[in-house]
Amino acid sequence: PYGYEEWPKLSLESFKLGRELNLRSIKVGSINYDFEPSNIVITGMGGSGIVGDIVRDSLWGHNIIIHKDFNIPKWVDSRSLVVAVSYSGETLETICGALDALRRGVPVVGVTTGGRLASELEGRGAPVVKVPKAIAPRFGLPNLLYAVLGLLSHYLTIPEIDESISVQGDALRSELPGRLASFLKGYVPMIFAPIGLQAVAYRFKNDLNENSKTPAVVAIVPEADHNDIVAVMLKHPVKYIIIRGRTDDVHDYLMRAVEEVVKNYSSDVEVVELKGSSRLSQEVYGSMLLGLVSVKLAELYGIDPVRTDPINTLKEKIR
Ligand code: PA5
Repeated sequence: PYGYEEWPKLSLESFKLGRELNLRSIKVGSINYDFEPSNIVITGMGGSGIVGDIVRDSLWGHNIIIHKDFNIPKWVDSRSLVVAVSYSGETLETICGALDALRRGVPVVGVTTGGRLASELEGRGAPVVKVPKAIAPRFGLPNLLYAVLGLLSHYLTIPEIDESISVQGDALRSELPGRLASFLKGYVPMIFAPIGLQAVAYRFKNDLNENSKTPAVVAIVPEADHNDIVAVMLKHPVKYIIIRGRTDDVHDYLMRAVEEVVKNYSSDVEVVELKGSSRLSQEVYGSMLLGLVSVKLAELYGIDPVRTDPINTLKEKIR
């Protein structure tokens, strides 16, 4: 449902789309794209913005900065590469950020289905990858994410692309989404995750907000060990989700400790085990699995996962 079964095919196609745009051959006035960027700034909001979070976690060790606002920070200059991601191409923050960067001589590339972002960038000669449409921005995650990875593959090595696509089948076949949706119905989910896989927790929160119209709390370890974890001492209408993945020995150990402590206080705990050997695979697996939870929860509430009326109202107001 909602196009999840198309993710593997779309992932492959979108990676090719990004890869086919030979960024290194591009020049826009005095801006030259044939360089080794000292950092990569990924800008975008909501279902498009999460792409940046996943890329940052997956390509950890590289200088990747996430920007979810209008103007790009002042220190970003011609040694940076700005990737502006907006599914609709109509998001004001992303359009303003991209145009501001280009004006300042920073190489910018757009990833979108079209809209103003595409026309404004193309009108200035800047490169754009046009990705296929989905039901709504967040349902187009593979389209946007793999196009960005394809683009970045001109500058960086992307680990375990094939595995990150094959684990999607495991998520699709899993029985967990139905069970987890029933577990969460009527409660506020509190999601614990290690810092190296934080994008999965934020993606799940966003999907719960938008698809299931449900508030959710994200608690990132180790910081959460010093604040969020204390909330388990009182009984709240909260259910706990522990995202168990593999990053490094220290954080894997910390997550086991967190799990034990939370379980000492509450029996309302479910552990979600991520599949895959790389952070990319684990995050893609988790995004699909937990996305399915959010649409199943919407079904249990009898609401339409696709509608996000308050976002539309806000966008109209700031147009
Ligand atoms: O998933 C959604 O519908 C939203 O979170 C959008 O992604 C967000 O409003 C930004 O819009 P866009 O992705 O079109 O830039």
